[in-house]
Amino acid sequence: MKIYAHRGASGTHPENTLAAFEEASRLAIHGVEFDVHVSKDGELVVIHDERIDRTSNGVGYVKDLTLAELRAYDYGSWFNEDFAGESIPTLEEVLKTFQHTTHHVNIELKSDVFPYEEMGEKVLYLVEKMGMADRVVISSFDHEAIRNFKRSAPHIEVAILTMEVLVDAYDYARVIPADALHIYLPTAMRKMTKDALLKGAIIRVFTVNDEDNALALEQIGVHAIFTDFPKRMKQLFDLKQA
Ligand code: G3P
Ligand code: MG
Repeated sequence: MKIYAHRGASGTHPENTLAAFEEASRLAIHGVEFDVHVSKDGELVVIHDERIDRTSNGVGYVKDLTLAELRAYDYGSWFNEDFAGESIPTLEEVLKTFQHTTHHVNIELKSDVFPYEEMGEKVLYLVEKMGMADRVVISSFDHEAIRNFKRSAPHIEVAILTMEVLVDAYDYARVIPADALHIYLPTAMRKMTKDALLKGAIIRVFTVNDEDNALALEQIGVHAIFTDFPKRMKQLFDLKQA
């Protein structure tokens, strides 16, 4: 089972901060996942929500604040005072953390609420500039964005995210066209997953923090899980192999 650190090592560190990514970069896991939005001045920034309220001491939409304004806030204290002063990272800073590791990097385009202009083009430019195209997966709940990205960069792996039960997930992904399906844990044990796996789909499941779920998913042939606790999940599968 391949393990991706979800929003970095977000169970033990504040999600989508350099502290969470540095921890993930130290672990011998397959990859890391994180979420990208666009600031008012067009910078790609790594944060989960459209607003900064939940994960910082500031308020407002990412799209209404410049990078300098976003940087004025603390993105660590809400999680734990030990992380006071953590900032909101740019996509470039996060990619740099993994530039010299072997981690696969799943960049989730959060354009499903606000259709950020030129987000895909900017992400593509940066990924190419940093020489990481061969180990990047671009995903989104915004399947139009995935279609457009794949058209511009057929050599880069793309995945659709879904929380729904699809009638024929494999065929749906092929039409986009997407290389992989990223499926929501509560729906992951359904026939949809097994049928798609039988047809040859690549399936990764989010967000898996429970060992029994991880083992059950491995049993049915799921390729990877996204977890907030990558260290613990890595130990589970290492022990199983030993
Ligand atoms: O990419 C997997 C997962 O991160 C999708 O959901 O809401 O955690 O970004 P979310
Ligand atoms: Mg995500």
